[in-house]
Amino acid sequence: MNDIQKETEMSFQSLRDMNLKGRRVLLRADLNVPARRGKVTDTTRIDRLKPTIDFLREAGARILILSHFGRPEGEQNPEMSLAFLTPTLEERWGCDIRFSPDCIGPKAEAVIEKMGEGDVTLLENVRFYKEEKANDPGFAAKLAALGDIYVNDAFSAAHRAHASTEGLAHLLPSAAGLLMEQELNALDTALEHPQKPVAAIVGGSKISTKLGVLNNIVQKVDYLILGGAMANTFLYAGGADVGSSLCETDMKEEALKISKTAKKYGCEIVLPIDSVVVSELKLNAPSETVDSQAIPEGKMAIDVGPQSLAHVEDILEKCKTLLWNGPMGVFEIKPFDTGTNALAHKAAALTKAGQLVSIAGGGDTVAALENADVCHDLSYVSTAGGAFLEWLKGEPLPGVEALMRPAKAAKIAGHYQA
Ligand code: 3PG
Repeated sequence: MNDIQKETEMSFQSLRDMNLKGRRVLLRADLNVPARRGKVTDTTRIDRLKPTIDFLREAGARILILSHFGRPEGEQNPEMSLAFLTPTLEERWGCDIRFSPDCIGPKAEAVIEKMGEGDVTLLENVRFYKEEKANDPGFAAKLAALGDIYVNDAFSAAHRAHASTEGLAHLLPSAAGLLMEQELNALDTALEHPQKPVAAIVGGSKISTKLGVLNNIVQKVDYLILGGAMANTFLYAGGADVGSSLCETDMKEEALKISKTAKKYGCEIVLPIDSVVVSELKLNAPSETVDSQAIPEGKMAIDVGPQSLAHVEDILEKCKTLLWNGPMGVFEIKPFDTGTNALAHKAAALTKAGQLVSIAGGGDTVAALENADVCHDLSYVSTAGGAFLEWLKGEPLPGVEALMRPAKAAKIAGHYQA
């Protein structure tokens, strides 16, 4: 652990400093996991919670898990009940899980009454109450009445100022869970206190959805490597012919503004030199590689070419930190995952060699890196989608802010500085 991580950890009340024995701990988790036909299809978020569960159980806490699942909009929708998760939690965490059919009131109290030290109860979806999303103080008080301590381990929901992610922290002694700490430490290492030089790879289809992210990132990194269709918008803004590539022509001025900010902060924006183009987007579509400045009419760029890859690989060799959000091309359609895979393998190799700290997250990124089979070889892959992007924008996350308040702790240096 480096000094910065120590500093970050000290900003929060830690689980380790709390007397947990026999206490009822309301643990806000993010069990909004991918599922199909009542079965969990990816257990990453569940697995990442295990250290906190183990810690609390060993300390003799009585653990009450709060989570949302989907967006039931305040309706008691059985399709979004958390009950289906119980067997998966038992299997992944290796302990019995009780289920409470309500997250507040007498039904929850009846289940909690029977709990002993180290027992775990999963409470029903907090979003079955519209008061959750409204951060209603009365609802937060009903949740608080069930516990003695609040632990937030749901970084991926920390961009929501809801009763169970924000309100509760003001009502009970609070601490960050071990996963929350890990996520915050990783992001702090990548963006606020990185070892330089720092590169950010940002891909995806639209700059309009990532304007805030791009504006913040160019002020903090040495290289901003753009891929995906958003690179086309920057190429177009610089005067290139982009053929029939996906491109936000109305974002030209924004792209130029971001380039100007980048220049001011000494950040080099790295655009594709060559692009793989097709006439039609389909599996194994015939393709050719062309100069990214002159994409022929009727052709669309869907991946970066070999010269671009070699150039980015050279840059990564020089860097000590890499932040990755978004794919380089249409990775869902083979073989147009080639560019994303090549850079993912390079990042993984440099990380394994101890040359690079690599941190990835947000939206499509995890799927793209899983497709390249490198998730285990990067330094840290965040479980968060929207919260990761909010952090990259430099926005305060209500769930994180609220945790700091009770301890009146120093804010995470850098991120929240005015
Ligand atoms: C997520 O999956 O990103 C979080 O669980 C937040 O879900 P939400 O976007 O429905 O608030």
